[in-house]
Amino acid sequence: MPPPLCEGATRPLHPAPRRPHVHRMAILKIARMGHPVLATPARPVDDPTAPEVRRLLDDMVETLRDAGGVGLAAPQVHVPWRVILYAVPAARNAGVAIPLRILFNPELEPVDDAMVEAREACLSLPGLSGSVPRYRHVRWRGVSADGQAIEGEATDFHARVLQHECDHLDGVLYPMRMRDLRTFGFVDAQGAEVAAAPVD
Ligand code: NI
Repeated sequence: MPPPLCEGATRPLHPAPRRPHVHRMAILKIARMGHPVLATPARPVDDPTAPEVRRLLDDMVETLRDAGGVGLAAPQVHVPWRVILYAVPAARNAGVAIPLRILFNPELEPVDDAMVEAREACLSLPGLSGSVPRYRHVRWRGVSADGQAIEGEATDFHARVLQHECDHLDGVLYPMRMRDLRTFGFVDAQGAEVAAAPVD
């Protein structure tokens, strides 16, 4: 019979060794408008490949899938880092789906002055939507999850998602961009026509 692990113990103090390389993904709590993290500019991320950054990304992907949103920015999960992720369904992008894209330290630049008004919603303002003007065509650049510099152009809904998510990194929420607050309100009070309109 082996000696007891500890005098008087009925079971080992550390029964199951933890496996340090296994990260169980978690659904993170989403910050709602009014929380200071949503009103504060986020910090650039120096090393997108760092293990703690990888863990955050895994959890953000899980959180976005659970919430059923199009995009998510780190401040929305209470982390003040400059990283966004999004995926655009084919039906919202002229038939071309954009699979999950992760962008660190993203920068946007409008290609021209053309703006479009459309309805947006946000996971940080649950149940609400409003009409927001956005540049129709933007150039974007940033760093991918494996640390590579990437860039491209986006139009229409894709450009809108990028502007909405990048605004989160600067402490800006979509109502702050609205021109007509009469279009702002609860989706379930806005009527069938508005409820059927696409939202982010
Ligand atoms: Ni949002």
